[in-house]
Amino acid sequence: MTGYLDRTAVITGAGSGIGQALARRLAAAGARLALSDIDEIGLAETVRQAKVLGAQVRSDVVDVRDSVRMANYAQTIRAQFGTVHLMFNNAGTTFAGSVEETELADFERVLAVNFWGVVNGTKAFLPHLIASGDGHLVNVSSVFGLVGFPGQGAYSASKFAVRGFTEALRMELRAAHRPVRVTCVIPGGVKTGIVRNSHAAKGIDLSALVESFDRDPGVTADTAARVILDGVRAGRAQVLVGRDALVLELGRRLLGTGYQRIVGPIGARWLEQVRAPRRDLLREPK
Ligand SMILES: NC(=O)c1ccc[n+]([C@@H]2O[C@H](COP(=O)([O-])OP(=O)(O)OC[C@H]3O[C@@H](n4cnc5c(N)ncnc54)[C@H](O)[C@@H]3O)[C@@H](O)[C@H]2O)c1
Repeated sequence: MTGYLDRTAVITGAGSGIGQALARRLAAAGARLALSDIDEIGLAETVRQAKVLGAQVRSDVVDVRDSVRMANYAQTIRAQFGTVHLMFNNAGTTFAGSVEETELADFERVLAVNFWGVVNGTKAFLPHLIASGDGHLVNVSSVFGLVGFPGQGAYSASKFAVRGFTEALRMELRAAHRPVRVTCVIPGGVKTGIVRNSHAAKGIDLSALVESFDRDPGVTADTAARVILDGVRAGRAQVLVGRDALVLELGRRLLGTGYQRIVGPIGARWLEQVRAPRRDLLREPK
């Protein structure tokens, strides 16, 4: 694939952040867009931005957790656009809380969106990407899919799963000489609404969580989209977004599990900072 002109690109989670920025950049590059999200208002804003840039756009409210809906959606997109060249499994959510304080339902919700959403999107669109003769599947993992981080057990599990799934699939498709390239995206911190849009365990102070995320020197969503699209165009197996992603990947390769001695205390300190004060432990003022 040399460029994005006249390519049909499907983006999940297109109503905000990285998905919205991908839509803008692909629109500017002349792609046709099939955008989806569960956030109707955010999605409408992305459609508006893409249309201003002259793109042909279709938008649908689709929950990536719903495999049947996703399969029907893929049929609809194929019928309308004729060919599907690019699929970005981007929709995601996060969750903060130690494993001890995270409820099973929270693990299930995070895995349902982040992991099963990617599986549902892949299974629904892969036949159409193969049929295009020149397809590209892009699955969004995270630096927390490279290394574990205290307080991110559910999110890390989902993002490790996305990376394993994507790498296995890439090798399978190569061995079978399928005309589909596969890229796993590993963003570090990106300035988006992800933390505001997400949940946390009972003991976590949401405003402290948002504050700590906003303090993080992440890249903008637009920069992330540019790096992702450059990497996809080059057919890379893995696209690292941001210096933090590069450092963590290098650290993991050099230190093996030894990275935990550095990341562990940093994460434990962060978890303490975002923990709501335990009222029962505070002394009443005299
Ligand atoms: N922002 C970061 O620092 C960062 C870092 C690493 C990885 N990522 C990953 O990048 C991807 C995009 O995240 P973002 O930062 O742009 O966040 P965001 O919250 O700005 O955008 C995510 C979008 O996904 C949508 N979404 C959530 N659940 C959905 C569902 N069940 N079905 C359909 N859509 C759903 C949300 O409505 C939202 O519009 C996610 O997979 C996220 O895990 C983000």
